Amino acid sequence: MTHQTKFKPQTLMLSQGYDPRLSEGAVIPPVFRTSTFEFKNAQEGKRAFEIAYGLKPASEGEVPALIYSRVNNPNVQIVEERLTAWDGAEACALFSSGMGAISTTCLSLLKPGDGLLFSDPVYGGTEYLFRHVLPAFHIKTYAFPAGSPPDVIAQHLAAHPDVKLVFLETPANPTMTLTDIAATVQAAKAHARADRPIYVAVDNTFLGPIFSHPLRFGADLVLYSATKFIGGHSDLVAGACLGRKELIGPIKALRTILGGMTDADTAWLILRSLGTLQLRMEKQQQHALRVVEALDAHAAVVKVYYPGHPMVGAAQVQLFGRQCRGSGSVVSFTVKGGEAEAFEVLDSLEAFRLAVSLGGIESLAEHPASMTHSDMSAEEKAAAGIGDDLLRLSVGLEDPDDLVADLKQALDRLAR
Ligand SMILES: Cc1ncc(COP(=O)(O)O)c(C=O)c1O
Repeated sequence: MTHQTKFKPQTLMLSQGYDPRLSEGAVIPPVFRTSTFEFKNAQEGKRAFEIAYGLKPASEGEVPALIYSRVNNPNVQIVEERLTAWDGAEACALFSSGMGAISTTCLSLLKPGDGLLFSDPVYGGTEYLFRHVLPAFHIKTYAFPAGSPPDVIAQHLAAHPDVKLVFLETPANPTMTLTDIAATVQAAKAHARADRPIYVAVDNTFLGPIFSHPLRFGADLVLYSATKFIGGHSDLVAGACLGRKELIGPIKALRTILGGMTDADTAWLILRSLGTLQLRMEKQQQHALRVVEALDAHAAVVKVYYPGHPMVGAAQVQLFGRQCRGSGSVVSFTVKGGEAEAFEVLDSLEAFRLAVSLGGIESLAEHPASMTHSDMSAEEKAAAGIGDDLLRLSVGLEDPDDLVADLKQALDRLAR
């Protein structure tokens, strides 16, 4: 990798990992839309496979030849190099979706008989993977409430010596609850044995890579749905996993076999998005702060769930101060009433589109209990704090005056 460490991440988003001299001087990387790559000679082909399949690792400075676009592709590699800059990661694996990144990572680290401990709630698809798919492969999964104090996490680890991976989603989707990464890492280290490490992976989709850096708190891996802020325009689906080379190498090898590689066109779109990632996230956060202010002031709103907001309690506010660099632009809130009232708000919004997903430049609103988290049982939803009165917003780049006015007119209907 060609890290230019003298530059800050925002500068690297426009240059890292790309040499124009290899592409006719093109300032912007072309789309390498090819399924396969020609080797200079048979020896080069042999060496490329040795490296890709982990048979003989690349030596320092050795640049392996490209093979086949399910294994590697220049557009994908440029994105991978650039993404490492924000998190201070050694390596990155890009995937065709966030779920591809999460499932491949779990299957790379866990074998039948191993256990996984996760903060609850997590995104609905992840929840399904943990509660239904992994157990079918004899991987046991255990949940603890997001935001639990360190001793609760330690108790789980003591009670379940099979746990090899602790998975945190912080902030949690959709309750925005933060879980303490540094304390989780400490508990994992305390319960690990020399022959049995306990890894900590963090889904950083909501605040990363600008406002949260889990690797700096000792996490082993950081995961993204790149469909969200990294892509940022609701026009692609992708995912990423970042961490130490020794962990990302096997994850990439499994990606090749399971087939979760992203394509060159999608990678190119992400490259385009990376240049404005910081700008977008900072501006969207400004707009979200205006939205939070409006929600706070409205009589039909019961509670606002937003990282660092006083309503989430002193312990969460303190953790926010230690762990986060910003509160981002996803905001959840409860309204007076239940599903009918929540639906009335959703159906009355005009500037916010009624759609799942988040992190794009357009504002979206959804009802987690009946949409993104509808796979959970009533008991699981109740335990995780996902009520019928809960709404989730992703705040975009529309004029914030319009967003505030739109929310107000929709909420005013409940007051009538
Ligand atoms: C926090 C979080 N992680 C993972 C995912 C899954 O990502 P993808 O839809 O890109 O597979 C999502 C999707 O909404 C999410 O919100």
